[in-house]
Amino acid sequence: MAAAPTDELAAQARALLADYAADAQTEAHAAATLTQLAALLPALDAAYHQHDAPVVDDATYDALRRLNTRLELEFPRHALAHSPSATVGAPASGPFRRHRHMVPMLSLDNVFSREEFEGFVSRIARFLGLGDEQARALSFVAEPKIDGLSISLTYVHGRFVRGTTRGDGTEGEDVTANLRTLRDIPNQLATPFPDTIEIRGEIFLSKQAFLELNAAQEEAGEKPFANPRNAAAGSLRQLDPTITAKRPLSLFAYAAGYCDAPLAATHHGYLEQLRIWGFQVNPLSTQVKDAQAAEAFMERLTRERSGLDYDIDGVVYKLDDRALQERLGFAGRAPRWAVAWKFPAEQAITRLEKIDIQVGRTGALTPVAFLEPVNVGGVIVTRASLHNEDEIARKDIRVGDLVHVQRAGDVIPQITGVVLPRDRETQPFAFPHTCPACGAHAERPEGEVVWRCSGGLTCPAQVMERLIHFVSRDAFDIDGLGDRTIVEFHELGWLRTPADIFRLGAHEEDIAARDGWGKVSARNLVNAIAARRTIELSRLIYALGIRRIGTSNARLLARHYGSLANWRTQMEKAAVVGSDERLELGSITGIGTTIADELVAFFAEAHNRATLDDLTGELTRVLDEEAPEEGNLSGKTIVFTGTLTTMTRPEARAVAERLGARVSDSVSKKTDLVVLGEKAGSKARKATELGIETMDEASWRILADMPPAPEAEG
Ligand code: IVH
Repeated sequence: MAAAPTDELAAQARALLADYAADAQTEAHAAATLTQLAALLPALDAAYHQHDAPVVDDATYDALRRLNTRLELEFPRHALAHSPSATVGAPASGPFRRHRHMVPMLSLDNVFSREEFEGFVSRIARFLGLGDEQARALSFVAEPKIDGLSISLTYVHGRFVRGTTRGDGTEGEDVTANLRTLRDIPNQLATPFPDTIEIRGEIFLSKQAFLELNAAQEEAGEKPFANPRNAAAGSLRQLDPTITAKRPLSLFAYAAGYCDAPLAATHHGYLEQLRIWGFQVNPLSTQVKDAQAAEAFMERLTRERSGLDYDIDGVVYKLDDRALQERLGFAGRAPRWAVAWKFPAEQAITRLEKIDIQVGRTGALTPVAFLEPVNVGGVIVTRASLHNEDEIARKDIRVGDLVHVQRAGDVIPQITGVVLPRDRETQPFAFPHTCPACGAHAERPEGEVVWRCSGGLTCPAQVMERLIHFVSRDAFDIDGLGDRTIVEFHELGWLRTPADIFRLGAHEEDIAARDGWGKVSARNLVNAIAARRTIELSRLIYALGIRRIGTSNARLLARHYGSLANWRTQMEKAAVVGSDERLELGSITGIGTTIADELVAFFAEAHNRATLDDLTGELTRVLDEEAPEEGNLSGKTIVFTGTLTTMTRPEARAVAERLGARVSDSVSKKTDLVVLGEKAGSKARKATELGIETMDEASWRILADMPPAPEAEG
């Protein structure tokens, strides 16, 4: 392509900026602007770097780059694979630029026994509606579970353009410059390759490299790293890639993210392809046919674990057939087709020094065990979870007892029991009936296990915990506003409600003058806060800290209701028991009646509504939630009824949801489509009465673009 004359480029740059300033930010406009920027920025770069002949002044250039970054963040769906931001990293906020994964990076469910593994296989069989024989034919690939950091590598036209950490699973940090220093990451894939592909794997430091690095750290008077995983994380997030280059990080590739061409039909075939492209694939990876073989592999690795030059914490089992993987999809944050079988928990014995009661953001009083420090499988443990009053009573755990402590995977250490007979006399633990933070009386409702402080927003612990939750990573994710700062600002009277966070700018000078702060850090904090005046709806919902609304429920709600205004109206209407809105809320897959009750209770409180109003007044924009995938079913409500014969209910539901539809259990005037299985009864009649479209199962498969029905059995 011939280069455009320089004055043409300059005119285009000016027009783009002027046009964008004038126009509203619509999706279509953003997409068009991103496309133009993708052509314009490289041309400006070339003029500047290769021809030493800048076409526009620095300010114009920076404005264009900022526009590109902003649009990518606001309209991630339209971010281009060959985006200019992929090649030149311009930090948006914090040291590393954030980047959205094209396909989210998820985690894995854990199992700890043969029994639980068999449960995993049966769930697959049930979801797919397989008979015994078909279930026995399922085959898996077993791979060591590397204890490192997962990473996503994007290749466009075979070239490595970007590497991103997992982050919150949706968005990670761009660490491309550092990753380019790794020998295990090919810069160019061997042909043939798809146009765009995300390759996932684990970055780790070998045990040998870890020991050498720590020896060097100590020699240089620096703090040694606690374990290879921490050392790898520290090395990857270096601001200076020449430091990363000196740390011998390695990579095992093991999964696929986005790919715009068909991949291998099996997972083992895909691993083979990764090897051909030039990646290291763990040499121990192997196929296993059943639970017995899975267990045998587990036993083998338990024996060989200590001899490996890298840390592993279990084995990952993945269903080999990729078409079946596709059908199974994801539940929450983990795939239905893979599982991590973890090595047994590590245990130790130590003394319980005291039991402290902590107050959570919803007022729950949680007992925490303080222990005499003890080494549990390489980690020093000083605290453990005690769950609740009943657990303490059931295990008869008393202050002063010797207790068994165990660590399983990433979870908080647990006390599994008391060493009996007791070596000294101790008293049963009396759970307090008042809040240790504010003195208000505590309540334990019938049928619940948790004591709750009745102080509400007068309880400083609850207020503080809510704020801490509000700025946490999956919520507003505000850099520089840590727990200690929140406590400090709260004591100063600057922070009481979430909206106050956005008014901290008024205290910038006071903040700068405080111990441990300065002009720059105060400015950075104010900027980090300002950057969050635009926020995704799901983050906002999660940030509100409503009981039982974790990240995945927040996402379900955001997707279902689409916009803040709609969600809010619907929640308030749902207060009426038996209303359409209440029924709709309770029938969202994954929500159910208990969670519906919590949401309604939250909106019933005037102070919660006022807090939300106050907050939204401070926000510039709440980003509407996109449907999970563009599809003809986006926003439609579907009901399945009768007996489905070529797929199970859960699969039908999952497919519909993947295509952007909501699945409901009851037919109402809001239903768009009723899919009729065999012997469909009253719901079919109701659909006809209401004049709602119906179709049979075969037509549904065509509409949903599902492969032709598997042959009927018998
Ligand atoms: S597959 C959707 N394979 O384990 C598939 N993960 O607990 C997700 N991990 O975040 C990942 N070794 O960081 C996979 N052979 C392996 C792995 C592996 C280590 C990590 C990975 C993931 C975490 C989930």
